[in-house]
Amino acid sequence: MDIEKIREDFPVTKEYVYLNNAATSPLPLPVIEAVQEYYETRKYGGLYYKRWHEVARKTKKLIARLLNADVSEIALVGSTSEGINIVANMLGLKGKGEVLLNDLEFPSNTYPWMKFRYKVVRSKKGRIDLEDFEKEINENTKVLSVSHVSYKNGFAHDIEALGELCEEKDIYFFVDAIQSMGVLEVDVKKAKIDFLSSGAYKWQLGPSGVGVLYIRKELTDMFEPPYIGWKSARNPFDFKLEYEPAEGAKKFEIGTPCHASIFGYKAALEYLFSIGIKKIKKRVLSLTQIFHENLENRLTPENTSGIFSFKYDFKIPKKFVVTKKDDYVRVSPHFYNTKEEVEEFIKAIQSRLK
Ligand SMILES: Cc1ncc(COP(=O)(O)O)c(C=O)c1O
Repeated sequence: MDIEKIREDFPVTKEYVYLNNAATSPLPLPVIEAVQEYYETRKYGGLYYKRWHEVARKTKKLIARLLNADVSEIALVGSTSEGINIVANMLGLKGKGEVLLNDLEFPSNTYPWMKFRYKVVRSKKGRIDLEDFEKEINENTKVLSVSHVSYKNGFAHDIEALGELCEEKDIYFFVDAIQSMGVLEVDVKKAKIDFLSSGAYKWQLGPSGVGVLYIRKELTDMFEPPYIGWKSARNPFDFKLEYEPAEGAKKFEIGTPCHASIFGYKAALEYLFSIGIKKIKKRVLSLTQIFHENLENRLTPENTSGIFSFKYDFKIPKKFVVTKKDDYVRVSPHFYNTKEEVEEFIKAIQSRLK
């Protein structure tokens, strides 16, 4: 990994120590150029629409590759929250305690489920283990919904173990992967994931306004989308009076998407693949490890990810971009950050911790 060259693509690194990728990542220059390319085509109205559709098709192929899914299992959506809402509203949830949630979730993965009957599993010392979920599963439970990585403290669930558990208990497994896709391995087959949703704008280095909804092949036929549009039809350009759904996850795409963001998302995925997800993971985890080794007042348990949180109730110098919430700070380095940046940050705050 030629880090100096990579950092040229992230001009923010010249001014700031940017450790806030769990909030919004900076767009690398090739992603910005791809978005601009779309707007160039718009000088010609809709004359380039075939190219837009081609870019969307290729983007879905790249997403499928990242998730080890089939492209027919991928729908492009506007955000993680949209994907979660689609699934929550199509499962036909009616009875008692059907959804298993937990207290490490971002509201996007609790609010949409809360109009149904749900139970919240409580974390202990910042973690939730398989047994904690297992204890709460009973004959009423229909779905377990977790964020692969908690936005709050970076706790990474063992999604393969949870997928096994869900299969054994015959319940659906939903994963919010916005805090892991692009850094950690997310293999929908290995982890036996039924549904997954994610946005592009954090670890995947893409624009906002685009995300992915994965639905396991067998389930795309079993469920109907809670809302549909002309793009959900098998032949969208027929404009017929009868509605015939598209095959696979495509029926979950309803209308004209944000093509500019899709152009950017494609470039972002190409960028990630050009570096290699395994290399990215190794580098990010080695950067968060420095926090683990140096900050004792951590809220992040051992199961690590790109996120590290610790108790800190003082001002942070402007140069360092992090998330400060209540009495804690969350840092989230990506592969373009350096060991020196992380050490500089730790040095800058450590005097306050003594
Ligand atoms: C775990 C998690 N899920 C969902 C979201 C929101 O995603 P979106 O804006 O794509 O709906 C966030 C944002 O921070 C998040 O951390």
